[in-house]
Amino acid sequence: HSSRLSDSSLHEDKEASSSSTEFLAKEISKRRNFAIISHPDAGKTTLTEKLLLYGGAIHEAGAVKARRAARHATSDWMELEKQRGISITSTALVFETDDHQITLLDTPGHQDFGEDTYRTLAAADNAVMLVDAGKGLEPQTRKLFEVCRMRKLPIFTFINKMDRPALEALELLDEIEKEFELSTHAINWPIGSGDRFMGLYYRPKNEVHLFEKDQSHGSKEASVQVLPWGDPSLQTIIPEDLYQQLEEEIELLEAVSQPLELEKIHQGELSPVFFGSAMNNFGVKLFLESFLKYAQQPIPHAADVGLIEPDYPEFTGFVFKLQANMDPKHRDKVAFVRVCSGQFMKGMKVQLARTGRQVSLTRPQKMFAQDRMTVETGFAGDVIGLNNPNTFAIGDTIYTGSRVVFPGIPSFSPELFSYMRNPNPSKYKQFQKGLTELLGEGAVQVLYSVDSGRTDPILAAVGQLQFEVLQYRMSSEYGVEVQLEPLGYSVARWVTGGWPAIQKAGKLYNCATVKDWWGRPVLLFRNGWSVSQLMAENSEIGELTPYALPP
Ligand code: G4P
Repeated sequence: HSSRLSDSSLHEDKEASSSSTEFLAKEISKRRNFAIISHPDAGKTTLTEKLLLYGGAIHEAGAVKARRAARHATSDWMELEKQRGISITSTALVFETDDHQITLLDTPGHQDFGEDTYRTLAAADNAVMLVDAGKGLEPQTRKLFEVCRMRKLPIFTFINKMDRPALEALELLDEIEKEFELSTHAINWPIGSGDRFMGLYYRPKNEVHLFEKDQSHGSKEASVQVLPWGDPSLQTIIPEDLYQQLEEEIELLEAVSQPLELEKIHQGELSPVFFGSAMNNFGVKLFLESFLKYAQQPIPHAADVGLIEPDYPEFTGFVFKLQANMDPKHRDKVAFVRVCSGQFMKGMKVQLARTGRQVSLTRPQKMFAQDRMTVETGFAGDVIGLNNPNTFAIGDTIYTGSRVVFPGIPSFSPELFSYMRNPNPSKYKQFQKGLTELLGEGAVQVLYSVDSGRTDPILAAVGQLQFEVLQYRMSSEYGVEVQLEPLGYSVARWVTGGWPAIQKAGKLYNCATVKDWWGRPVLLFRNGWSVSQLMAENSEIGELTPYALPP
């Protein structure tokens, strides 16, 4: 696989001299990037591995078992990476099929769920919503969906674990349609579920794909028998009750389904739906093929000067994630950049919009398991890791040519709040320095109390790990042993109308008024119910939002 990667970069290098729009357009049209949104245990790691298998990046998928034990020590992918010896960056996994270069952006789940998980979606052009067929929609999927909706990302739904007891397929579609107000179009339809899961009806071709269970336990591509719907032998192969059910459901689907309009998919209004079992490789191939057909290629990005098209010849990009190495022996920081236009080239000089300074991107890299591979070139849709310590902040725009500024990455609705106290006044300076630097990196958000008079910063985060990392780094990098005092809030809302709206609203009950880093009012609530109550009782407060862009 790695030889394939370097072959292609050599090839790209040769062509790099001509940075014509046509050349860019060709590179862009090959690229598809996506992130998987799911709740822990829905099968994200399993599906990732199977996509690599069907994409041709690996030839045999290993049992995912041993990975679990080590999961708590390291991210899922790093473990996968070690086991399989394949090239996975800690943030984006790149693989090539015959016609496409696919970038899968990692959305950390489990205990490393945090703001980075959301920020990753700011770099994605498509989302795959992975749902456990036995459980339906789950909390983490809901949260991530919200962010996709905000960005109008196309959503491809994969309903996994059909080999286990599952909810009715129609019920699952109904849940997605009602709760997310998202239309669905089933591309394939399950025949049976649990022990009786036999295969899929593939609607675009009116074919039945019957799976043959083999002894490989999903490590090899599954064998499939394909028969046209209406083939008489189907009635002998498929048990009568399942056949009848399928017949009825096909009819129903034809009657109620939304047409498969590409534009609606790309607007995030219509989700193509797939059923399958990632573990057994059932439905993965059909999914990948359809995904490549319907997914959108790298999209234009709105900037202060208007839309930046991916084939705009100047290089532009933005930083969506900063990652500090926790190992004190390698104290480096990598800024992950989403390329939006033009061509990235190793060693190029760019402008950093925030400071107006020129930065030489001298050490671009992708991180691999054993060593680090230098990236020679990149195009819209790609993710590049830059090792320029302390140069970048989350949301930074870099560009060549005339000035461009992308709007930055929103502060995502935090759910955990904690005062951070410095018990040692002689460490005041280090405390402030650490806090400011770690904030710039987007390690946590910070809020300040308005009504209590207390001056300690309130840390706000999406996941508990963010607090732990911050505490660890304050100690190891700045020598301050901070104390955290958790607060009993779980919901934050920015007040769109600002301080005038707060004043107009008068006394607010069941919430705390705080301000963010830029001094804007934010309300903290114990639960979602208190938010609805405030909205119902105090209309003067106006609009409240769970996200806010940097001013
Ligand atoms: P995650 O990354 O989303 O957290 O999920 P992961 O792939 O680790 O899968 C979670 C569990 O679900 C694993 O089982 C995995 O084998 C199982 N799984 C994934 N896809 C399917 C599927 O299509 N059918 C069935 N029946 N199971 C599936 P585990 O018991 O937690 O671990 P393991 O011992 O099997 O590795």
